Amino acid sequence: MQERPKKVLTCVNRRFHSGEPSCATRGSLAIAEAIEEGVRERRIDIVAERYVCFGQCTKGPTVKLVPGDFILGTTLDMVDGILDQLEAACGTKAEEDAGPPVHLLGS
Ligand code: FES
Repeated sequence: MQERPKKVLTCVNRRFHSGEPSCATRGSLAIAEAIEEGVRERRIDIVAERYVCFGQCTKGPTVKLVPGDFILGTTLDMVDGILDQLEAACGTKAEEDAGPPVHLLGS
């Protein structure tokens, strides 16, 4: 049985030279925001972070479970399904363990 993921990382690397692929030029910032918001709202027991390049640039946007697999060619339409899988694998935190409300983050 595979160990449950402790982190979900979304590549937000952006390259500015045309012809060089990168996840951010394919919409990964919106994907990272949707995953982070979904993890917070559902209180999924996993850490969601951004990352800069997994070396899967031609196959991105790239999401990586740690430990776990790459999710390649990620689209916004896939985020709900990814969150469903994470919730099933990781469970949810009790409300008292959920951390500060979203509006307090970064304040
Ligand atoms: S730019 Fe995202 S994996 Fe390299």
